Amino acid sequence: MPDNTLPTLVAKDITKVYQTGEVEVRALDGVSFELYRGEMVVLLGASGSGKSTLLNILGGLDRPTTGSVLFDNADLSRMSEHDLTLFRRDHVGFVFQFYNLIPSLTARENVALVTEIAQHPLSPEQALELVKLENRLDHFPAQLSGGEQQRVAIARAIAKQPDILLCDEPTGALDKQTGILVMDAIATINRELGTSTAVITHNTVVGGMADRIVSISDGRIAGIEHNRQRVSAAELDW
Ligand SMILES: Nc1ncnc2c1ncn2[C@@H]1O[C@H](COP(=O)(O)OP(=O)(O)OP(=O)(O)O)[C@@H](O)[C@H]1O
Ligand SMILES: [Mg+2]
Repeated sequence: MPDNTLPTLVAKDITKVYQTGEVEVRALDGVSFELYRGEMVVLLGASGSGKSTLLNILGGLDRPTTGSVLFDNADLSRMSEHDLTLFRRDHVGFVFQFYNLIPSLTARENVALVTEIAQHPLSPEQALELVKLENRLDHFPAQLSGGEQQRVAIARAIAKQPDILLCDEPTGALDKQTGILVMDAIATINRELGTSTAVITHNTVVGGMADRIVSISDGRIAGIEHNRQRVSAAELDW
């Protein structure tokens, strides 16, 4: 069960303004948001509404223009580049639409790249078992399906046992059946490791798997819905 009294991350009144030549884009416009320990959140919203911008700021890949993001009372928006890199390395796993696996390394070796530098890692075999790839350890990316490659990317992201898992359209390049396997892998990690998880998707039904569904519109949080009855990916009406 998620502990919704203990926030892992607290974003307070963040804005993000991109200046491109003469054009100013206000990608985030006063977002306050808490990601609680062990919860799974789904972020929904139209293209360009600011979802990826928010996720990247929560994960320390980018900084807000104004506002703060607190992790253990440290403000990510004021950290040095070095400390931000350590924050990401020690505490955050990222999963993107494209898998970015190293083609010349096997599944096990792709995951081992991360476990070698982590403090309390799972073994590559344990991480790959969590995403149900224990029988693909020595396959190269080219020998894996798209969904299997994405599950290797998830195993790589969580092998260091991060506090936070951030996924930006993890099923965006996958068909429905494969998307179910990938979303189930993410939900399993959230449940078994208690990783605070945020998933961006365009597929509104995926909200059924989350504890909370956050709708983003024009750089603002337009609504937050609580879901008392989380279901598995296979139970969704895709
Ligand atoms: N690096 C950047 N430079 C300038 N503008 C940017 C940059 N990144 C994003 N934007 C703008 O900020 C707004 C929010 O972009 P963002 O990528 O967060 O949207 P999104 O909700 O993730 O959309 P999508 O569903 O298409 O991925 C958009 O108007 C986008 O054009
Ligand atoms: Mg995006």
